[in-house]
Amino acid sequence: MPAYTTEKIAPKYHEALVAWQKKNFPELAFLEDNWSKVYPAQTPYQLVAKIGKLNSDSIGYGRFAGQQRFENAGDMVGNMFYSARDIVRAQASTELGSIQQHRLTLEEAPTDQMKMAVLRIMAEELRHAYQMFWVLDHDQSWKKPGHPDIAAETMDELLNMELGNHVLDAFNIPFSNFLDNVIFATVIDLVGKYQLEMQKVFSYAPMARSMGPMLSEEGFHIGSGRGFLKELAIGGTNGTGAYSIGDIQKALNAWIPRGLEMFGNERGGETAVAFGFKDRNNGTAQAEYHSEVREVLELINVEIVKRMIKEITAPDARSVVREVQDTGETIKGVSPQDLLFVPDVKFFRKRGVEEIALMPYDVNGNLLTDDAKPVSGEKYLQYLGSVLPGYYMRTNEFTKYREALLGHQRLSGSYGW
Ligand SMILES: [Fe+2]
Ligand SMILES: [Fe+2]
Repeated sequence: MPAYTTEKIAPKYHEALVAWQKKNFPELAFLEDNWSKVYPAQTPYQLVAKIGKLNSDSIGYGRFAGQQRFENAGDMVGNMFYSARDIVRAQASTELGSIQQHRLTLEEAPTDQMKMAVLRIMAEELRHAYQMFWVLDHDQSWKKPGHPDIAAETMDELLNMELGNHVLDAFNIPFSNFLDNVIFATVIDLVGKYQLEMQKVFSYAPMARSMGPMLSEEGFHIGSGRGFLKELAIGGTNGTGAYSIGDIQKALNAWIPRGLEMFGNERGGETAVAFGFKDRNNGTAQAEYHSEVREVLELINVEIVKRMIKEITAPDARSVVREVQDTGETIKGVSPQDLLFVPDVKFFRKRGVEEIALMPYDVNGNLLTDDAKPVSGEKYLQYLGSVLPGYYMRTNEFTKYREALLGHQRLSGSYGW
């Protein structure tokens, strides 16, 4: 028996999402036609909301801890009501944005298995958007007497979002090649997992009930990303793949900072905990995420080393990985450039705490300096050119970063004079 019940939203918004899908994701029909062949053990795809069970009826965190969870959005007052709406809105935007991103390079998938997996990911992200629409649509109390209809306003806005005006930066970056699909599923969907995991405690019950079913689908997204990234990295190592280890590293350098920023300012998030929306603040979750990405890359590095040194055991391969990365030296023919690493949290940050946002940190977390002062924005851009993919630096998102970096330098006046 499934651990959830299903519901549909009102026809007006159900049809609006189907129309959105026909325009942004027409390939869904192909997935549906082939589903039982490719995923025989999985229930066929359905555009429905899945309503899971709560771990407990009471609020676990913050100023309402111990009270019953809120069933009606309208019972949340003031800032809490709008913050809940903002979280639902941002979540739905990520789901829709990622479909628009994946579609751009879907046809470049090196194997049929990879293409079908990305189609399934896209279909499940559509269901997640539907789920967030259900949160807004089924609860009439989002429309408070004498106020605008917040639910309708939010859903209408979401249906009109395109790459470029999604809520979070990571969802405004157009994919340039299939490496982006794979790295995105590995490191950006992983942020999604953290958010959903934290939001199981959500004090507004319909949101909390949505998390379990979404999380189990995210497991497939993250697992696909990791498996395919390993395949691509092995292809890069033995020269049979479309991307070199250097290409893969550059794409990681572009995406991981955006993943870190999805947690919000690392000193913030206390309000979300106080409202009982999450169980951890931003900094704690971000640090956990960063170390999980490190572990994911270490497992891939072990596979790389196993291809480079004949008959080495996995534990020995892991020791080689650690030694090469800790010392920066070549050991048994394995050099740092043969392996993947997670850039430091301070590298290439547009948002976050003042000391690091728009500051010229290198991938190792060292501040780049000239005469003991941080290097100029122009010099930092040159450095970024050596560690980021060229195509990434031609996106509108990078243009926005460049303008923010150069503007920050002028405003701060603390360097570059
Ligand atoms: Fe999702
Ligand atoms: Fe996902």
